Amino acid sequence: MSWLCPLCHSPLVQTANSFCCDQRHQFDVAREGYLNLLPVQHKRSKEPGDSSEMIQARRAFLDAGHYQPLREAICNTLQQISPEILLDIGCGEGYYTGAFADVRADVGGETYGLDVSKVAIRYAAKRYRDVRFCVASSQRLPFADNSMDTIVRIFAPCNAAELARVVKPGGVVITATPGPRHLYQLKELIYQQVELHHEVPEVMPGFILKQTLQPAWNMTLTGEQAVTLLQMTPFAWRARPEVWQQLKQGSTFACETDFVVRVWEKVVDNLEAQ
Ligand SMILES: C[S@@+](CC[C@H](N)C(=O)[O-])C[C@H]1O[C@@H](n2cnc3c(N)ncnc32)[C@H](O)[C@@H]1O
Ligand SMILES: [Zn+2]
Repeated sequence: MSWLCPLCHSPLVQTANSFCCDQRHQFDVAREGYLNLLPVQHKRSKEPGDSSEMIQARRAFLDAGHYQPLREAICNTLQQISPEILLDIGCGEGYYTGAFADVRADVGGETYGLDVSKVAIRYAAKRYRDVRFCVASSQRLPFADNSMDTIVRIFAPCNAAELARVVKPGGVVITATPGPRHLYQLKELIYQQVELHHEVPEVMPGFILKQTLQPAWNMTLTGEQAVTLLQMTPFAWRARPEVWQQLKQGSTFACETDFVVRVWEKVVDNLEAQ
């Protein structure tokens, strides 16, 4: 498996500490071991993706094990599929990606993690040494057609056509998205009227839906943990100062989680796709 050049889409070949294509576009391996495949001209902002504050909050929250049942549910599914080459899209600071590499350690194979946030990838690459991380956009994946056995996408955006291009025929995409009651009690603090998150079913041209899981559980958080949870979500932007104060001063905060995990299989012939 090789990376593709984000500029001309030809394969990158490693020479010492950098990767180069035959058009001489060159990408250096960072000190932490990741590859930055997001050229300046592809950046939509100076620091695209999640900010340093969000990444640090997510790491603290995930390390405390609050989303462990979701990680276990996806790892169990991966154990059944046993993919050789796996990509985690929008992998953030790598909590899930590291576990995906561990769960398949005895099978061998390669695990890739991709995120548009450089800070996130730096955190991920420092800790999870068995994963190949890159900074890149999911709008154009730096991988060849039909090169991945499985792609996982947890709460992260991706162009569906890119998934269909990169996954092998018969390969699998696993998506995790918020279910209707996800973080209901947190939203109650922020919105006057909470709308249940009614998901529009994802459209995945070229794939058929094979399995749907709905892991959901209740969390009991300390005030500090609830603040960390708020920091790692997009609701942080909307929360008034009183909300932050209320969470911080509360002794406990009870909150529901609700996830939808879908397993999609790429059809061999696109004409059969639904
Ligand atoms: C809600 S976070 C989820 C992170 C991780 N999957 C997790 O659940 O902990 C979404 C992630 O997608 C990344 N992201 C946003 N837009 C992206 C894009 N166009 N390409 C790649 N990653 C992107 C963000 O930087 C962020 O790390
Ligand atoms: Zn090139």
